[in-house]
Amino acid sequence: MERTLVLVKPDGVQRGLIGEVTSRLERRGLRLAAAKFIQVSNELAETHYAIHKGKPFYAGLIQYITSAPVMAMVWEGPSAVAAVRQTMGATRPTEAAPGSLRHDFALEIGRNLTHASDTVENGEKEVALWFQPGELVDWKRETDRWIFEK
Ligand code: RTP
Ligand code: MG
Repeated sequence: MERTLVLVKPDGVQRGLIGEVTSRLERRGLRLAAAKFIQVSNELAETHYAIHKGKPFYAGLIQYITSAPVMAMVWEGPSAVAAVRQTMGATRPTEAAPGSLRHDFALEIGRNLTHASDTVENGEKEVALWFQPGELVDWKRETDRWIFEK
């Protein structure tokens, strides 16, 4: 089953949108595999966003993600990576599809509410970076067979 890392970033937490994000992923049919509410360290932020090091927005991005607590979650399901990215919407909220979270709740790229892994490979790496193996819950839902074809 494909897994993806989702963060409700500090702006989403401060604005009381943890439930909104979680609710949309739940109703989409994705299955929660892990969750924790944490203050992100500089070290974790820098490792997570290492790919953006050297870009003009990097310092602001590290400041943003470490500025207040985040809700970190792992969601799973068929094509979970693509499905979650679609539910989040494009990185720049003014380009996000109507109905997506970033369209419905955000205006600026530097306050875009959520993070979601962008590829299956990065999903695996990010889940391993943010969660210990023992924090991942292996479970089945009664509704799985009505949502997952196989
Ligand atoms: P994320 O990693 O947070 O899920 O977002 P993403 O894949 O949609 O976008 P990515 O290119 O990975 O950028 C990571 C985060 O950096 C901030 N950003 N600011 N000012 C800018 O031009 C700029 N570009 C990116 C955003 O907060 C973006 O989510
Ligand atoms: Mg990204």
